[in-house]
Amino acid sequence: PEDVGILGIHMVVPSTFVDQKEYEAFHGVPAGKYTIGLGQDKMGFCTDREDIHSLCMTALNGLVRKMGISYSDIGRLDVGTETIVDKSKSVKSVLMKLFEESGNHDVEGLDTTNACYGGTAALFNAISWVESSAWDGRLAVVIAGDIAVYAEGSARPTGGAGAVAMLIGPNAPLVMERGLRASYMAHAYDFYKPNLSSEYPAVDGKLSIQCYLGALDSCYQTYCRKARKLSALTGDSSNDAVGINSFDAMVFHSPYGKLVEKSFARLVLNDFLSTPLERVPEVYPNLEKFAGVKLEETYFDRDVEKGFMSFSKQLFCRKTMPSLLLSNQVGNMYTASLYGGLVSYLISKPVDELGGKRVGFFSYGSGLASTMFSMKLVSGPKLAQLVSQLTYVHDSLARRTKVDPADYTAMMAAKEASYNKAPFLPTASTDSLFPGTFYLNEVDQMYRRTYGQV
Ligand code: ACO
Repeated sequence: PEDVGILGIHMVVPSTFVDQKEYEAFHGVPAGKYTIGLGQDKMGFCTDREDIHSLCMTALNGLVRKMGISYSDIGRLDVGTETIVDKSKSVKSVLMKLFEESGNHDVEGLDTTNACYGGTAALFNAISWVESSAWDGRLAVVIAGDIAVYAEGSARPTGGAGAVAMLIGPNAPLVMERGLRASYMAHAYDFYKPNLSSEYPAVDGKLSIQCYLGALDSCYQTYCRKARKLSALTGDSSNDAVGINSFDAMVFHSPYGKLVEKSFARLVLNDFLSTPLERVPEVYPNLEKFAGVKLEETYFDRDVEKGFMSFSKQLFCRKTMPSLLLSNQVGNMYTASLYGGLVSYLISKPVDELGGKRVGFFSYGSGLASTMFSMKLVSGPKLAQLVSQLTYVHDSLARRTKVDPADYTAMMAAKEASYNKAPFLPTASTDSLFPGTFYLNEVDQMYRRTYGQV
């Protein structure tokens, strides 16, 4: 099959949020720390009425309905998540409930977990299936979803929640570029969830930033090297001078917007360091003093950071800022964060400005796993339909219910107390949930979960 990629997307955001300005005041931190310092305006969250199963059901059901397909058209379903409610039973197996009526039980694929990277592993699996000898001609679905919550402390305002479902198949309007993937995988204790009786991760915030930036440097250099090799092999000169300008847009995994802004500047720093010295004054005016800096010594170098952030500001606004809407309005959605970035980009401009564009992606999951890859957007009715079916996201964001930080804090305390407990009856109202949302009815004494739909 040719042009394998994304045929359709459905994005689910929580219907409740905390305002980050109010959260700054509530935490008694200086005004601007979360909104300007982290780049976050609102943090979406789920009440005890939603869990990872219900979020993914909402996403899958929304995708199937909007694409006008049947559950029997799906031959593979991959889920990427790090929100674990069961150490054995996959989220995918729960989603099979939605297939029951169609009678289709011939559906490959399961869950993939490694922090925020699982969605990307799931996407690669689904694409590989369509490109493989195992493909039976049907469609694949990828779901990336998470509920990102942190213990009280500096990481808590970087929470969020969301799920994205993507329909995968041939002749797609969003085509995965072949032969252009670069990964960096290593062992690190930057963010991990060793305490199985808690929903919260153990986080070394500073190390997680260093790991993210180091992985970014490595993936970008490997991507550029592979792109140059590919262009030498194919005789296509478009990748000869690969660098930030080879991408019309660059979408990053976004733990919070500010890190993405710094990451964009870092790609420019990488380009700078691979530029012949004699060309530096012309291409990078006023940055000559940074010639020869070592990437691994600059993760927290304020001068380098400032220099390259201000130099690349305009490029950032053009190529990356449009992909930060959901990050800014919802927060970190872990596995869904990168694909929320794609959705944000797609709904940021008229569709005729999207056709033909090449989009770079940087996926990062602590622990750590990371990959840079790229997609091409193909002009035509399929792209127009994919994008027009996403514009409801603006409405969803506008129609959410704001919750007081004190109420959010009390809800988190109650969730902590009931975590892993059975039987359990959720107490939150279903009134504020968007139509079509699946919600948790109860967890019975055998830990079996049942769901309803608004
Ligand atoms: N006005 C404007 N900016 C401010 C203000 C203010 N009043 N006060 C502080 N700031 C800035 C700081 O200067 C800093 O910006 P800088 O990084 O450019 O210097 C920013 O706000 C954050 O302030 P810090 O003091 O660095 O924040 P803190 O250490 O309290 O927490 C952290 C930040 C480490 C990111 C924390 O939120 C965290 O641990 N988050 C979870 C881990 C994470 O997301 N890691 C990223 C990769 S891994 C992943 O995806 C999970």
